[in-house]
Amino acid sequence: MQIKHNISLKPYNTFGIDVLAKQYISIESIEELKQVLSLNEYPDIFILGGGSNMLLTKDIEALVMHINLKGITILSEDEDFVLIKANAGENWHEFVLWCLNNNFGGLENLSLIPGNVGTAPIQNIGAYGIELKDSFVSCNALHIATKTIRTFTKEDCRFDYRNSVFKQEEKGKYIICNVTFKLSKKNHTLHTSYGSISDQLSVMKIECPTIQDVSNAVIKIRQSKLPDPKKIGNSGSFFKNPIITKKAYLKLKENFQDIPGYPVSETEIKVPAGWLIEKTGFKGKQFGTYGVHKAQALVLVNYGNAKGSDILELSKLIQHTIKLIFNISIEAEVNVL
Ligand code: EPU
Repeated sequence: MQIKHNISLKPYNTFGIDVLAKQYISIESIEELKQVLSLNEYPDIFILGGGSNMLLTKDIEALVMHINLKGITILSEDEDFVLIKANAGENWHEFVLWCLNNNFGGLENLSLIPGNVGTAPIQNIGAYGIELKDSFVSCNALHIATKTIRTFTKEDCRFDYRNSVFKQEEKGKYIICNVTFKLSKKNHTLHTSYGSISDQLSVMKIECPTIQDVSNAVIKIRQSKLPDPKKIGNSGSFFKNPIITKKAYLKLKENFQDIPGYPVSETEIKVPAGWLIEKTGFKGKQFGTYGVHKAQALVLVNYGNAKGSDILELSKLIQHTIKLIFNISIEAEVNVL
């Protein structure tokens, strides 16, 4: 066990924000995780996964525990399905590619999402008509207070749009150690109706797509809209798409005829925050080292050495402007720390 001091977290957060971890440890086994949690000299801990859903605004005084638990195991399989357990520190996209290489279907629409396996359930990652919950079976998480492992079933996780029990009442209480997925081995159910997937498949001249083709189409679409965090720091969608009442939506439509909306229930409509931000004129705006991405207004970017606090201020300005113009409150999707 080696605790390091004054380590820059720049390589460990996809926004590329340069803040210091006053003390840092890479965790490579559950045993080590339990040992570190038993150390009395570090009462405050900070759990770091893939660093893809956070905006760091200051140095971290707490002990940063970087979860690097690796390994993928096939737990069981029959002719049609396979149960796979992936440890929390596996990179999400590499795990998706591993599944595709084995012809295991279910995660292809979630290709190229930044982050790690262990943090994916926290916000129920989703893209192109699929969410993590659709293939999720269970996860094992260490209860920090008692250092015991608890298994969370899909029901226990109470998944919702970019939400789960780990962002609500169990927030900060558990460390997810591994996740089990149920994937198909044949007769894969393809989800190609969302947005531009079918258009992209036509461009690729593919009539009968495989799961690999769907993944390739998703990768192409994401690359065209979303900046690569290795080149331009970002955290994917900075905001969640707000859900408003149908009444409020119809009222807005009187002034903004082209406002898009997707019904989520009889009385509620989800409005793309990207559209609201674009309408306010922020899309593509650059303020020195940071700004709003050119191709997708939901994504805030760090062009160089931006400070987390600058990006936070920009996000507040956007929220304020949208409230003024549309009377809609948009919530950050990323965790601001
Ligand atoms: N739109 C604009 N301008 C923009 C962006 C979007 O007008 O700059 C409008 C358009 O009307 C477009 C609609 O928003 O048709 C939807 O856009 P898109 O398909 O790009 O999806 P999104 O709602 O903006 C969500 C997720 C993304 C995910 C895509 C595809 C959230 C907060 N974001 O974005 O997730 O990749 O759908 O499924 O739900 C992420 O969470 O980090 C992320 C990138």
